[in-house]
Amino acid sequence: MTEAWSLPVPKGWFRVASLRDLPVGAVRPARVDGHELVVYRSAAGEVHVASAWCPHLGAHLGHCGKVEGERLRCGFHGMCFDREGQCVETGYNTRPPPTSKLRPWLVRETFGQVFTWYDPAGSTPDWSLPTLDDAGWSTWRATSWQLPTHPQDIAENSVDLGHFSWVHGYDAVRATRPPEANGACLSVWYEFERAVPGLTSIGAARLKIEIAAEVWGLGCTLVDVTVASLGFRARNLVAVTPTGGGEIDLCAAISMRGDDSWRPVALMPQVAIETLLAPGAIALYAHDVEQDFVYWKNKRYESRPALADGDGPIGRYRRWARQFYGDRATAVGGDDATP
Ligand code: FES
Ligand SMILES: [Fe+2]
Repeated sequence: MTEAWSLPVPKGWFRVASLRDLPVGAVRPARVDGHELVVYRSAAGEVHVASAWCPHLGAHLGHCGKVEGERLRCGFHGMCFDREGQCVETGYNTRPPPTSKLRPWLVRETFGQVFTWYDPAGSTPDWSLPTLDDAGWSTWRATSWQLPTHPQDIAENSVDLGHFSWVHGYDAVRATRPPEANGACLSVWYEFERAVPGLTSIGAARLKIEIAAEVWGLGCTLVDVTVASLGFRARNLVAVTPTGGGEIDLCAAISMRGDDSWRPVALMPQVAIETLLAPGAIALYAHDVEQDFVYWKNKRYESRPALADGDGPIGRYRRWARQFYGDRATAVGGDDATP
């Protein structure tokens, strides 16, 4: 466990699966803050998340469960659970034990992912994640990693304007609007220039990138990317799940489209965006995310950071982030941090 885990676990919506990896009948394991979960999609297409330990003799349903219609059956001795988690059949045609029940977890399908709500204090959600109109956008592509760091440090990356040039090599980084906090959503806007490998042939060696990022709690950041010179738009998702033991699951996902201009990407047919552009875009996105790893893996959390002109709105971000810790927020700091 790194120093980053001097922070408590926040509440929020946390990703437990990618929809692309969850076709009808699929069963997947997941973990949130040490809680073992099963994620599955029923025959009717409904996604369910539930506690994973079979109450019979403890098999992990994420590894041995099988979808049967709208139910989930344990492979070990055949106990079968309905969508509410109630055991409705044994494997022996005997009466199901009335106390045999899986605990259902909340499900939110958006941004090409499945999220579930988690609060260590046990509260119910007081906010939700938005749904986007996916029409005209490419299929979400995702990649993920396990890292020994904290969700707050990953989400802080979106407001840490100073690191964009040092770590990622971006130029002319500047905030284009002041940040806005609206309940569980913090919005930030900035732009920069960057080199994009492979685009020199069309005269676009350095591109101006405009960013509008929405940080939804500490588990989900949606980054709207515009490259007007190419007629290119993307939605970049950063989804972070505290899995337990000081580890996180970090998922980067991307969906893209051309804009309404006559620029190169806008003129590409959708199939070319899906097959030619999307693989390179997720690879470039993953490359940029991986540039942060050495810092995330080895840093400690400074609750009273010595901030300087040139930093992004880190103090503002940390004051906003305190809402996700309830009465555990004293460990978070940031009250005295400026800007
Ligand atoms: S452990 Fe699941 S049916 Fe026995
Ligand atoms: Fe970064």
